[in-house]
Amino acid sequence: MEKRKEIERDFHNKIRLITHDSHVADTRWSPELEGTIKNNPLWKNMKYYSVERKSREFVLNWFENNCRGKYVLDYCTGNGEDGVYIAKHGAEKVTGIDISDVSIENCKYFASKNGVSNVTEFIVSDAENTGFEDNSFDIITEYGALHHLDRKKAFPEMARILRSDGKIICNEALGHNPIIHLYRKKTPLLRTEWEVAHIMRKKDFEMTQKYFGKIETHFFHLFTLLAVPFRKFSGFAFFLRLLEGIDSVLLKVQWIKWWSWQVVFILSEPRKHSLKEIM
Ligand SMILES: C[S@@+](CC[C@H](N)C(=O)[O-])C[C@H]1O[C@@H](n2cnc3c(N)ncnc32)[C@H](O)[C@@H]1O
Repeated sequence: MEKRKEIERDFHNKIRLITHDSHVADTRWSPELEGTIKNNPLWKNMKYYSVERKSREFVLNWFENNCRGKYVLDYCTGNGEDGVYIAKHGAEKVTGIDISDVSIENCKYFASKNGVSNVTEFIVSDAENTGFEDNSFDIITEYGALHHLDRKKAFPEMARILRSDGKIICNEALGHNPIIHLYRKKTPLLRTEWEVAHIMRKKDFEMTQKYFGKIETHFFHLFTLLAVPFRKFSGFAFFLRLLEGIDSVLLKVQWIKWWSWQVVFILSEPRKHSLKEIM
């Protein structure tokens, strides 16, 4: 295994052990989870996920409308929250892969806790070279994984294993906002060096055109980040909604939207490349 992949595996094994040990497989933000992991320095950034409501709502609605009866791949699944959600909402079968064996163990536990072990399969596997047959999946979902990978290998691999009429939904952080990027650089313990250097930027979206005929983008979270310090106050939900309103207007402006924290994008019309072209 390449050195960078060993580093990714070991880093994610370490951060996922806490959720494994305490049997809190679901690591999406909640006041209870923040209480459980607040003393773990590796989860110091969890508080920012308290303002993700709008992007999560978009993604979960998309799952509900697109995954029923489908073969779905949760690509770099982590603890498998999205895969389990999709399985619970009527997918024919959900496969989750991750390079971290601790994550995969957490996924199996989480799937059984949610009663979906019979329609899910979780496998330790390298996302850049999955070993799945061509055209295996109707839907691929990934959340926060592309900046852990070499995208010149990941995109053609995803295009290869996706059916021609299939779709991929990606939820990624963006690398243009200087304040957010400074925070990433100042907190090196929370992420691998490869991750910080490969957060997605505008040019990476241009690159997707080589592998997919169509891309649809939705930008989320700029002013909503101001609500983070108030997440434990009673008026938080109202304040967040107000800021979400501001974001929904301003993130339509071309030069502002690239400063947002996250983007959700949907890829379709995969262009199949031969192995020789990829290498
Ligand atoms: C930020 S986490 C996101 C996890 C999950 N998608 C979620 O929503 O919580 C990135 C994941 O990518 C996995 N990963 C990194 N490199 C990988 C590789 N080459 N192949 C498969 N998984 C990989 C890590 O182990 C980690 O679980």
